[in-house]
Amino acid sequence: MKRETIVVMDFGGQYNQLIARRVRECNVYCEVYPHNIRLDKLKEMNLKGIIFTGGPNSVYAEGSPLCDREVFELGVPVLGICYGSQLMAHLLGGKVATAPVSEYGKTEVNVDNRKRLFEGVSPKTICWMSHTDYIEKAPEGFTVTAHTPVCPVAGMENVKKGLYAVQFHPEVMHTQEGMKMLRNFVMDICGCKGDWKMDSFVEASISDIREKVGKGKVLCALSGGVDSSVAAVLLAKAVGKQLTCVFVDHGLLRKDEGDEVEEVFGPEGGYDLNFVRVNARERFYGKLAGVEEPERKRKIIGEEFIRVFEEEAKKIGAVDYLVQGTIYPDVIESGLGESAVIKSHHNVGGLPDCVDFKEIIEPLRLLFKDEVREAGLELGIPEKLVYRQPFPGPGLGVRIIGEVTAEKVRIVQEADAIYREEIKKAGMERELGQYFAAVTNMRSVGVMGDERTYDYAVALRAVSTSDFMTAEAVQMPWEVLSTVTSRIVNEVKGVNRVLYDCTGKPPGTIEFE
Ligand code: XMP
Repeated sequence: MKRETIVVMDFGGQYNQLIARRVRECNVYCEVYPHNIRLDKLKEMNLKGIIFTGGPNSVYAEGSPLCDREVFELGVPVLGICYGSQLMAHLLGGKVATAPVSEYGKTEVNVDNRKRLFEGVSPKTICWMSHTDYIEKAPEGFTVTAHTPVCPVAGMENVKKGLYAVQFHPEVMHTQEGMKMLRNFVMDICGCKGDWKMDSFVEASISDIREKVGKGKVLCALSGGVDSSVAAVLLAKAVGKQLTCVFVDHGLLRKDEGDEVEEVFGPEGGYDLNFVRVNARERFYGKLAGVEEPERKRKIIGEEFIRVFEEEAKKIGAVDYLVQGTIYPDVIESGLGESAVIKSHHNVGGLPDCVDFKEIIEPLRLLFKDEVREAGLELGIPEKLVYRQPFPGPGLGVRIIGEVTAEKVRIVQEADAIYREEIKKAGMERELGQYFAAVTNMRSVGVMGDERTYDYAVALRAVSTSDFMTAEAVQMPWEVLSTVTSRIVNEVKGVNRVLYDCTGKPPGTIEFE
């Protein structure tokens, strides 16, 4: 039996992934496709409903993304959001025009019909609006279900045809009852039962992998991050000793992290797999000596990583499968849009060229990050690893400004460990998006015990973010900052100053380089 599926048709909105994530929160499988997906593809699925996303265009402008009108005849409910609602109105004979004033931000919406999509929703409800066009007149056969003083059609429906539309964005958090509306659509209007659960995903993946791999040999590059760890354990449960995990310790990991990875995946860890740890720190430091330019550093670390991995792979010999920890946002981003390269991201994506293998296995390619974590817990991976902070592939290399030296690595490792420890003590671990220490390239004069010092400045950073594309600096409590500061200057040799980074993204990025 194919699993129930809701399809999100992407018209260029910035929240396409978020819509899919919200649907999955209802335990219903959801995939994002471009707006011009071929309808026969939809017919092959156990399709339960379609959601049109928002988008930056005007439906009546030339070249705007449209869709086949036949979508409305597939026999499944359709929900249009923002641009998607206007498109629905436009294609079915309503009128879309430029609104007399744009609505942007939290807006009170009057719900005129509290049934179906709005079942259980308050008569006046705060919703997130972001539009310059609006539906002036709903198409024939539709009734208006919500309005605002600006927007005569903030919601509309044609129950007989299963068509629903809202001008606002139910998927964003600022729409206070948005999740209720999406749940009403997915569960009640589309009639989904909610068959997407991580325990059955894990079970099904294990049996699929077994069938695919047979007696083949499998190779996995383990970084110690959440994705590669979950992928590795999934493979280990499926094929045991046919799997070899290679863990390249480039000497740019957080304090004790290499040993922690070894504890979980090494011989004492209890998983039935072959584990190879390569201690390559000297090699990496050697290559990085004298290099200051951030992109060069990233390239060197990325390339050296591949070289080391390649050498290990040669020792193992030809393998049949290479495992990659690709997750669904990577799939959406590489398949649907093109964005400017701000930094060259180092991932195992560069590996396939250099290793002799037959096929790639990407066991997590359908999962969002929170689902990967849930699957990890299902697989019995320690919580500490499952909830590990995102950590860049080039590691501390991008948290050491300027040249990487063994001394600066020690400084950043120790300062970061203190910072993390104090944040944990303050009970802030889970509420912060990402936090870490970096070592600047600046030395300054200080005084300690009547002696002049000339030492490094360490920078602390903490951001809150939901998607890592934008982020805000966290207002860290002063007690935490002052404790961390005095511990760092007292305990970490070579540091006499601690700074806190107040920059958001944009204009900053989360990492320093
Ligand atoms: P930036 O610094 O680009 O970081 O704002 C956004 C998020 O991505 C992480 N990051 C990386 N992750 N390889 C990765 O796998 C990389 O090269 C890399 N660079 C940055 C960063 O930690 C943050 O979570």
